[in-house]
Amino acid sequence: MLITFEGIEGCGKSTQCRLLFDLIEKTRPGSALLTREPGGSRLGRKLRSILLDPTNTGLCSEAELFLYLSDRAQHRAEIIKPALQAGRTVIIDRFTDSTLAYQGYGRGLDLMTLKNLNELAVQGTRPDLSVLIDLPAEIGLRRALTRNRLLQQTDEGRFEAEELSFHHRVRLGFLELAAKEPGRFLVLDGSSDREVIFAGIKQGIGDRFPLLLPAPDQA
Ligand code: TYD
Repeated sequence: MLITFEGIEGCGKSTQCRLLFDLIEKTRPGSALLTREPGGSRLGRKLRSILLDPTNTGLCSEAELFLYLSDRAQHRAEIIKPALQAGRTVIIDRFTDSTLAYQGYGRGLDLMTLKNLNELAVQGTRPDLSVLIDLPAEIGLRRALTRNRLLQQTDEGRFEAEELSFHHRVRLGFLELAAKEPGRFLVLDGSSDREVIFAGIKQGIGDRFPLLLPAPDQA
């Protein structure tokens, strides 16, 4: 089972990934894997530092795309596929839909080309469920900038430094992707409390895959 979490910066998806991972692990220790993109493999961690480095201002959209795809291909081959083959539930903080939303809707690269390149990178490995935590761009960006300040990261990341209109396009892109595939996506309101969002995730998973999570009285 492959579950991905998607959304704009500051939407709270990393917290929700962790809550889901902890819940599955509590019931069946060792049965889940929590990972992320970019940076899920050793090579990916090196690519991640290039991708998020705010001094890399001159990175063109195509070069950026191939770095994300390279990260994904290695992550899928080295980490995701072996875990799925071992029967584990793999939870990823961002996956293929981030490329469509950021490089496609955000940067303006051709969506059909991106879909084909994504497919080359993942070789048929597709999410069974994608949780989209939706949030207006203004709120997400404000949260992400506050978080960076709290972590004493004085520099903004490359993406946090983008214009609000970029994040707005990314948000609408995610919503459009979700609307095209309602069976795969679970869309939740990221402005709700984290407990409310997590209850929505448990409910959505329970409806689709009743055996994955413990019965409510055991959770
Ligand atoms: P990260 O710090 O992991 O952000 P977040 O905590 O919001 O997930 O940074 C990942 C950044 O990379 C984020 O701004 C989204 C962007 N991204 C893409 O543009 N394309 C992609 O394919 C992926 C996976 C991420």
